[in-house]
Amino acid sequence: MARGRRRGAEALIGRIEAAEALDPPGYAISNALARPAQIIGRPARRLGNALHGTGYGHPVHPMLVTLPIGSWTLALGLDLLAALGLVRDRRAAEAADTALRAGALGAVAAAATGMADWQYTDGRDRRLGLVHALANGTALGLNLLSLALRGRGRRGQGRLASAAAFGCMAAGGYLGGHLVYRRRVGVDHADRSPEPREWQAVLPLSDLAEDRPRRVEVADADTRQAIGIALVLHGGRVHAMGARCSHAGGPLDQGWVLEGRLVCPWHGSRYCLETGRPTDGPSTTPQPRYAVRIRDGMVELRREQEPGDAVVTAARAARAAGPQGGPRGRKADEVLVEHHTLLRRMFARILAIPRENPERRDLMRALAEELEIHETIEDRLFYPAVQPVSEDVAVAHAEHRQLADLLAMTLKLNTASPEFEDHLRALQAAVDHHAGSEERSMFVEAQRLGEPRLREIGHALEALLEEARASRARHAFRALKIRLLEGA
Ligand code: FES
Repeated sequence: MARGRRRGAEALIGRIEAAEALDPPGYAISNALARPAQIIGRPARRLGNALHGTGYGHPVHPMLVTLPIGSWTLALGLDLLAALGLVRDRRAAEAADTALRAGALGAVAAAATGMADWQYTDGRDRRLGLVHALANGTALGLNLLSLALRGRGRRGQGRLASAAAFGCMAAGGYLGGHLVYRRRVGVDHADRSPEPREWQAVLPLSDLAEDRPRRVEVADADTRQAIGIALVLHGGRVHAMGARCSHAGGPLDQGWVLEGRLVCPWHGSRYCLETGRPTDGPSTTPQPRYAVRIRDGMVELRREQEPGDAVVTAARAARAAGPQGGPRGRKADEVLVEHHTLLRRMFARILAIPRENPERRDLMRALAEELEIHETIEDRLFYPAVQPVSEDVAVAHAEHRQLADLLAMTLKLNTASPEFEDHLRALQAAVDHHAGSEERSMFVEAQRLGEPRLREIGHALEALLEEARASRARHAFRALKIRLLEGA
């Protein structure tokens, strides 16, 4: 039923996106909005920047839409309680009216910011955005009508108008969600690769001409993509920023320099050459920045890290490497590969046992315990230790979560059932994928820590493994957790 409704909504959205009849009114409105701004000039551009959120760092529209949504939902709730006779207080009716007024004010502000952003959409996004605005505009109109009816004492009709407005707002919200999460309108479109982590020569300086942007590319080995960078020689200095515009992906290397800013050829956002920040919208998000130096007549680049980045650099790896004075045993990766082998054998054993044999359940519990232990030693010791030299840790955490979810589903099933076998094979594939990617990538990167440090971590891993298996309290806790997951 829910799937049918979703398909229906998607088909409707598809029809709106394909409705070319919406283009003439869409462009007429857009041009009508642009003209006064063109006449007024700089002050209008400042207002436009404020409406986009250019100086704020994010679009403002998503923040403002919470005002009508929250206020009108409150009004609807109060109306419902009153209609059901659950509240009779006059103050509840006044509160509903106040919420409607506050929501209307918020809706006007949200509409202004939304229109400012919508002008810079095209094609199917522009059509869908127009219908999104129509739905929300209708909601605003119905709520204003509702307020007028309430003011004349026709509260019942007013409540009906508000309920219809709520439906329009919900439909408009659904289309807005589609525009952002499916069509990626308003999200960051810049390539944010950490490469190049170290200085990399990209172009002879003599190939650059003053104020003529030029594209160079660096390779990102992880994503197997070429990352475009726009180089600009301005005032005798070379500047570099991501070539893909953060607003909608326009090619900044095909733009031009105006008043010391790099201008996007698609919608005219201007970026400061020094900081990569937009000084004029519609863009709100700074471009990726690169440090530049000239060596032997070549332009060399290095990615400037952003707040929150934790990428591996030579300096970071050097700080984490080397012994720290702890006892040493086998290397950490050797300990973990041995545990991976144990897990793989346990899967093979369970699958080799006939379905009806109750030993399957015992082995499944033993496997669940070992998986739990494996997750614990990696999360507590190994991942924090390798984080400075490997960017795979975030994905590994996500895979642990996936393994835990699959394990929980598998434990609930009758071990004699075909569903159990299906789930066990899926869990086996997930463990194999996780272990394989660690062995192929993370353990290779971990070698940058140096053998003495890896032996220290290995010793700590073995001690934790031993403790986890020997401790009765820990075993009892794991057993209890497994029983809970089994639903016993
Ligand atoms: S893509 Fe829109 S301003 Fe660059």
